Amino acid sequence: MDIGVATRSDSAPPAARKRWVPRSLVLGSTLFALGLISLFTGHVASEIEWSQLRKAWRSRKGGGYSEAVDIWKSKFSNLYYGCSQKGPHFRSAVPERKSNGYLLIATSGGLNQQRTGITDAVVVARILNATLVVPQLDHHSFWKDDSDFVNIFDVDWFISFLSKDVRIVKRIPDKVMRSMEKPPYTMRAPRKSTPEYYLGEVLPILLRRRALQLTKFDYRLANRLDEELQKLRCRVNYHALRFTKPIQTIGQKLVTTMRSMTSRFIAIHLRFEPDMLAFSGCYYGGGEKERSELGAIRKRWETLPELIPEDERSRGRCPLTPHEVGLMLSALGFGNDSYLYVASGEIYGGEKTLQPLKELFPNFFNKEMLAGDDLKPFLPFASRLAAIDYIVCDESDVFVTNNNGNMAKILAGRRRYMGHKRTIRPNTKKLSSLFKARNKMNKETFARKVKSCQKGFMGEPDEMRPGRGDFQEFPSSCICRKPERKNNETLEKLQNRPPVVG
Ligand SMILES: *[C@@H]1O[C@H](CO)[C@@H](O)[C@H](O)[C@H]1NC(C)=O
Ligand SMILES: *[C@@H]1O[C@H](CO)[C@@H](O)[C@H](O)[C@H]1NC(C)=O
Ligand SMILES: *[C@@H]1O[C@H](CO)[C@@H](O)[C@H](O)[C@H]1NC(C)=O
Repeated sequence: MDIGVATRSDSAPPAARKRWVPRSLVLGSTLFALGLISLFTGHVASEIEWSQLRKAWRSRKGGGYSEAVDIWKSKFSNLYYGCSQKGPHFRSAVPERKSNGYLLIATSGGLNQQRTGITDAVVVARILNATLVVPQLDHHSFWKDDSDFVNIFDVDWFISFLSKDVRIVKRIPDKVMRSMEKPPYTMRAPRKSTPEYYLGEVLPILLRRRALQLTKFDYRLANRLDEELQKLRCRVNYHALRFTKPIQTIGQKLVTTMRSMTSRFIAIHLRFEPDMLAFSGCYYGGGEKERSELGAIRKRWETLPELIPEDERSRGRCPLTPHEVGLMLSALGFGNDSYLYVASGEIYGGEKTLQPLKELFPNFFNKEMLAGDDLKPFLPFASRLAAIDYIVCDESDVFVTNNNGNMAKILAGRRRYMGHKRTIRPNTKKLSSLFKARNKMNKETFARKVKSCQKGFMGEPDEMRPGRGDFQEFPSSCICRKPERKNNETLEKLQNRPPVVG
């Protein structure tokens, strides 16, 4: 599973599980720590979310929100479609022999962080008129997965799908290799570098050396780019990156099994690994045992600031517990006969932690339960397991997360592109005080308050504003509104709501 290194942290994931990790990884600056912590909280998105919330409140005062929300499907989703075709003036890829050189990429992080890296690698190659060599995956991340690109993604499809945009090759041709005087130059671009940086700092070296490798490549390209390059990002992320046949087959099989039991289901992505919890500095209700266990893990990061668990919680910086996710779903109106698919890695406290969620929703499934022995060949490979969960979460009717990591963001964006499929992100800041006061109110009041907290966090089309948030999460350049006449009736309703992207 994707450890979800926050977009602002430059370093490795919280490499805490194993004591022998190099000190350089463990010793991060306080900034790094804060960056990582932010992944629980959606600092990046919170500004927008609050403004939406305010809008929603205002519009509610005006009577706009009186109708009940369909929790399984947005009423407005069919007004939009994913649009990532290139415009008429987007020129064709520069052929290999005329390109400015070969761009090698080493990605970084878990599966979804690397996905971002691959997506942006294609765009950087385009900016540089370079020939891209199929990116190398990270074998040394927290997840210790030695899968290569070809083990996870359909490489021939990747190359051919993008052939008009960027020339991609599997390796630098031998002839070129032999003619090079020195091995490829290696460098690392700063986070979120602009196209101007690549043209000014990287291109001259590429031209001089003919081959250049960019390392630790994940969030190395600016969020905001011109519209055509944003659309290219979408073509890579949503079309060119297709999992290999064995992964697709087992993923689809799990989806089919879910659908054989129920016509619609909820997928929950739970991040609840001990490391993540320790890192958050939050308290999850497990008493002295939890305090000492998480405290011990926390000591492995020597530079973590002292945090007051209560404060972190009220700031919305703690991922929801499985129980809290269940309470939120019940309160939103999902019946106890709903089917859940739970995507997760190791869960702190195991069965005992999951029990309250299972009591709320007895139809509880995960890949281990559904796939049985078919899962065996994938077990040694964390990224392939993450890919299987990605497929089921992508296909689910409703997708819910307890965190704001890379997988949560990437899937939230993808589901918007694929027709605004219902995606629920907990508004942790508001929910935390509500959970605390839960026993002081009756069930109906609690439910009403949860519903009101979650307005603006339900994956509705109007939650998106062009240029706001991470492009991965809000791919506004790639979502278009359908011509009006087709949607006359729904459109009239929509006109009473806050403005939407066009
Ligand atoms: C890339 O190629 C196009 C078309 O040949 C050219 O107009 C553009 O200036 C080139 N850019 C770079 C960075 O080489
Ligand atoms: C599920 O909910 C129904 C009513 O909403 C209730 O009667 C039933 O006891 C619940 N079942 C379980 C297993 O909690
Ligand atoms: C919907 O159609 C009706 C009549 O067909 C028309 O009067 C109305 O203006 C249309 N509304 C929108 C928003 O296009």
